[in-house]
Amino acid sequence: MQTSQTNQVNTLKLANNQVSRWHEFHSQDEINQAAVTRILQAAKEAIAKHGSFLVVLAGGGTPKSVYQLLAKEQADWANWHVFHNDDRCLATDHVERNSKMAREAWLNHVAIPQNQIHDIPAELGNIEGAKAYAKTLAGVRSFDLVILGLGEDGHTASLFPGQAVDNSADVVPVFNSPKPPADRVTMSQNRLNNTHEVMFLVTGAGKQDAVNHWLKGEAIPATLIAPACGVDVYCFGVKVAA
Ligand code: 6PG
Repeated sequence: MQTSQTNQVNTLKLANNQVSRWHEFHSQDEINQAAVTRILQAAKEAIAKHGSFLVVLAGGGTPKSVYQLLAKEQADWANWHVFHNDDRCLATDHVERNSKMAREAWLNHVAIPQNQIHDIPAELGNIEGAKAYAKTLAGVRSFDLVILGLGEDGHTASLFPGQAVDNSADVVPVFNSPKPPADRVTMSQNRLNNTHEVMFLVTGAGKQDAVNHWLKGEAIPATLIAPACGVDVYCFGVKVAA
């Protein structure tokens, strides 16, 4: 857990037995830099231990500036393996594809071997895309770091409130997502929990209600992510009650 650049860290045990450590930052720059520092450190630790670093990326808009900073860093890119926690069922070149955003902001600019960048083939549709990505994940060991966002309604990855959590496979189709587009592909709760470390990136006042529900111990989808290691929530622009 990195605490050097944070205002405060609160450790809480909340809904679904999730242990969450809350890190508040003073500015967008500070949270971005702390996230980059932690991701690079997690990579070093994993490569020292396993010879590889398995990272799962968050979609949405929040992580983009972190990915842009990573594009300028030096790292042992040859040993990075990149996955996505979810994607939207749109053409590969659609501006709202999470894979496109990550490639343009970061992955196209560093020397991660192409065959180690695992986009979700969500353009195949949610059912076929989920099946194909489950095959990609077959035999993949526990992740080293899962990066997640938080939706205004408390969702994370494409695990939405009121939708049954399907843990039948590592990757599952999503129908009727309340956040467009309706069809998506997401890693299941169980697969996301199979990780050494989790970093949520949460910025902006629009996330305050979701954070309040989370801090009250309500079982919003973000609390489904409850690995033994707990989760680190990096925040800027939302208030975290002590
Ligand atoms: C997606 C996501 C989703 C996202 C949150 C936050 O594809 O929509 O992976 O879980 O991380 O909705 O999105 P923003 O960062 O855009 O607020």
